[in-house]
Parts: sequence; C-alpha cells; structure tokens
Amino acid sequence: MKSLILLILGLLSFSIFAHSPIPNVILAIHGGTADTEEIPKNLEPEVIDGLFESLKAGYAVLKTKGSSLDAVEAAVKSLEDNPLFNAGKGAVFTSQGKNEMDASIMEGSTKKAGAVASVTQIKNPISAARAVMEKTRHVLLVGDGADQFAKAQGLKIVSPKYFYTDRRWKEWQKSKAKQNRSSQNSSPTAWNRHFSLGTVGSVALDIKNGLAAATSTGGLTDKMHGRVGDSPIIGAGTFADNETAAISCTGVGEYFIRYGIAREISSLIKYKQLNVVQAADTLIQNTLKPQNVEGGTIVLDPKGYLAFSYNAEGLPRGYVTQDGTAHLFVFDKEVVRLLK
Ligand code: GLY
Repeated sequence: MKSLILLILGLLSFSIFAHSPIPNVILAIHGGTADTEEIPKNLEPEVIDGLFESLKAGYAVLKTKGSSLDAVEAAVKSLEDNPLFNAGKGAVFTSQGKNEMDASIMEGSTKKAGAVASVTQIKNPISAARAVMEKTRHVLLVGDGADQFAKAQGLKIVSPKYFYTDRRWKEWQKSKAKQNRSSQNSSPTAWNRHFSLGTVGSVALDIKNGLAAATSTGGLTDKMHGRVGDSPIIGAGTFADNETAAISCTGVGEYFIRYGIAREISSLIKYKQLNVVQAADTLIQNTLKPQNVEGGTIVLDPKGYLAFSYNAEGLPRGYVTQDGTAHLFVFDKEVVRLLK
C-alpha cells in the first residue's frame, strides 16, 4: 500500500514538473524529434556535444549583450554545420537524391521575418533567411532566386556535394525500400517514423527583453523535389512576438502548415492567457498526437519561461538559464554543463 502511494506521488510530482514552464531561460534549442533507431545509445554523447556547441554559440552572443536575433542565428548555424542534425551539412535527401533546405527567422520586437526555401547551395540557410529579412522587401525567397540572392549578399556558397553524408544517403536508401512510393506522396502521415524529422531550431530572449526564433531543416527524407515544409513558413514552423513568445517547431511540416501551429501557440498565449506549456501541449499533444502526427516545439515567453512539448520518443534539446548553466537532453536523461 505504502509503495503504491509513493508510486502515485512520484508520478504526480513527475507530471507536475514535466508540465511546469522552466523559469529563467534565455536561450533554447532543439534538434528535431528522434527515436532510438535514429540516435542509438553510442551516438548520444555526440548529439549532446553538438547541442552544447550550439548553446555555446548562442550564449556567447547573449553574454556580451547581443541581440536574441544574433543568438538564434548563431545557435542554428552551429547545428547546420554539424552533420548529425537534419539542416545544412546534415540535410536529408529528396526523392531525386538531392538536398533542398528551408529556413526562417523572426524578430519579436519588430515582427520582421525572413525565410528561404528549396535552397541547394547556401552553406547556412539561416543566414540567408536573415538576409531576406534585413536586405529585401520580402519575407520568403525560394530555389534558384534564393541561392542567387545569398551569393549576391556574400554569404558562403558551397557545391551541392558539400551536403552529401553517408548516413543520410543510407537513410534515404532504407526509406525508399520501405515505402510504397505511389502512396507516399499523397499521404503525409506515411512519413511518420519512416523518415527523419530532425529539423533544428532556437529561441532566445535578450537583455532588452526581445525575443527571436529561428528554424532550419533539410525537410523530410525522400520528399518530392520542390516540396516545402513548415520551417520557412512564418506562423507554421517559426513565430516570434514580444507580447507572447518565440516558437520553433519540428515535425511533419504539412500539418504544421495546415494548423498554423506556431501562430496558434502564440494566439493561445495572447487571447486565452495560456502559459507556454499549456499552449504548446494544446497543439502538440491535444491536436497533433490524436491524429498520429509526430511533432514538437520549443516556446519561450518574454519573462523567460520555457516549454518543450513533443509527442515522439525524444526531442534532442537544450537550454541555458540566466546564470549560464546549460541543460541538455537527447531523451529523458539530463546532462548539465556550465557555460561560464
Ligand atoms: N518540419 C520540417 C519539414 O516538414 O520540412
């Protein structure tokens, strides 16, 4: 009887802690939803190190009173340069055996945003998204136009071969073998768990209480040539508003676009006064999970309260609190490292 009561109390306290916003957060990142097949035990330390490097890059900006916009760009660039994550260097392959990447960035104080989609030669798509935001009248540039724009802006251009990795190539071969290709392109749910979803993202809060969000991805393995997911769509995969939250999402992009997930989370905070955990869970657990759609999000409000919500086995992720402590996770186990 006693052990039963202890068990119930334990579960209760776990669920309370699991569903409380995390306070005093200035920076958070995610590396996309994942399972133990994608990230086996022996890969976990490398993923933790990759997440830590990203937090270090973002924290270096915030520590020197830099902007949240600079911080999220730095954090995402680090993940894009790491072949472990499905963005930039580690982008997955399309059905044509190529890499097409999407990214977006948004500033909460000005509500300015920029994005690129289906780019193939930009080393860091997140920096191209930022350039669209700051150097054009537009929000979203795609394909060749985006690649050319990035080149004209002096951003680093690489050969499409740069994005080749054995791991992603093998993953694509495996996915092709598993899938019935004719049904795959008309059924987004068929992507669940047969295809990598490891989009990356970051949210940050700066010394001026300004929020920013950034998201970058190679999309879904074996996606159609020209397919664009939620990551470059403001209001779907990315959103930032100083009145509500900075939000970055990961998951099956088609659903995040159709449900306007990031914007909806912001609206729940704004109009229903939900906290970050309630708002994130409403979309990820109550809306997507019952439909068997895998996804996750990180949500940071202007007071520094953070929520992670995901309905997959894991969401590799990390956050930094004001005192410079980094908290890192691949699955449930927490790793704590000091950044100072
Ligand atoms: N969430 C990434 C994608 O669907 O492309």
